Amino acid sequence: MDKERGKRVGIVGAGNVGATVAYSLAMLGSCHEIILRDNKIDVARGKALDMSQAASAVRSHTVVSVAEDMSELDDCDVVVVTAGSPRLPGMSRDDLLMINAKITKEVIVGIAQYSPHAIIIMVSNPLDAMTYVALKESGFDRSRVIGMAGILDSSRMASFIQEKLGYGGGQIRASVMGGHGDDMVPLPRYSTVAGVPLSDVLTDAEIEEVVDRTRHGGAEIVGHLKIGSAYYAPAKSTAIMVEAILKDTKQIHPCAVFLDGEYGYKDIVSGVPVMLGANGAEKIIEVTLNDNEKAMFKRSCDSVQELIDALNENKFFKGK
Ligand code: 2OP
Repeated sequence: MDKERGKRVGIVGAGNVGATVAYSLAMLGSCHEIILRDNKIDVARGKALDMSQAASAVRSHTVVSVAEDMSELDDCDVVVVTAGSPRLPGMSRDDLLMINAKITKEVIVGIAQYSPHAIIIMVSNPLDAMTYVALKESGFDRSRVIGMAGILDSSRMASFIQEKLGYGGGQIRASVMGGHGDDMVPLPRYSTVAGVPLSDVLTDAEIEEVVDRTRHGGAEIVGHLKIGSAYYAPAKSTAIMVEAILKDTKQIHPCAVFLDGEYGYKDIVSGVPVMLGANGAEKIIEVTLNDNEKAMFKRSCDSVQELIDALNENKFFKGK
């Protein structure tokens, strides 16, 4: 890596999520350069110019540029992957899985070739399965392939708690583990309002409502938007991960990582608390779960396993 060169962040997919990650990082001045890669190259060019100008407006040094092809996404410190197809009418969950797995594979092969030292942050859905594909196709150490979702799901839970209480905003620490799907595992026992346990300020029924709404937080937004899904919170959550890595904060965030025995699971990706630093997912924290939480975590891992099984049945990893 050229030490003269400042920090470079590549973003594959300059749609709503990718562009908003770029905008958030540019406003913070988190890195020297942000390089957008998208097949809609003119749209990416327009957004890059617009964002560089916004960066100038806030006196940020970050420049946003465009990669004509993957070879220009070289020597990045972090690459965020948001590329993927949305689920279109008539498309089954498995159809979408295969389409996005192929897109992910193509992108990851390029990243591994041109930014071999990068840390990859996966955002494409289905998130946990795409993180698994990225890990297998990159051949990177598991500490360098991390999925975004836990920060998003925990933030959604915190915001629903705030809405219920009518106070405490900014002081709520909500905790969600497991995969980014309907089987995610919100953990009220590990959620607090300014350090006060959730069970001291909400009834069991209220907590159950928060848990249920969190599990369907993405769908609730799709229901309003009709076309497309959420992007402000997904993008901000991704930017938080990029910042933690670039600044080597060593702070704990819930992220999707490959488990190799932790929590009793192997060869699967799921969301767990992770210490993020310059080397990516530097440490996995093992939280004590009670029987009910363990059962929920198992259900969530089983759902992710079904997707990995479907990829294997379709011979997706042939030759690996
Ligand atoms: C979300 O949860 C679609 O995964 C995206 O908003």
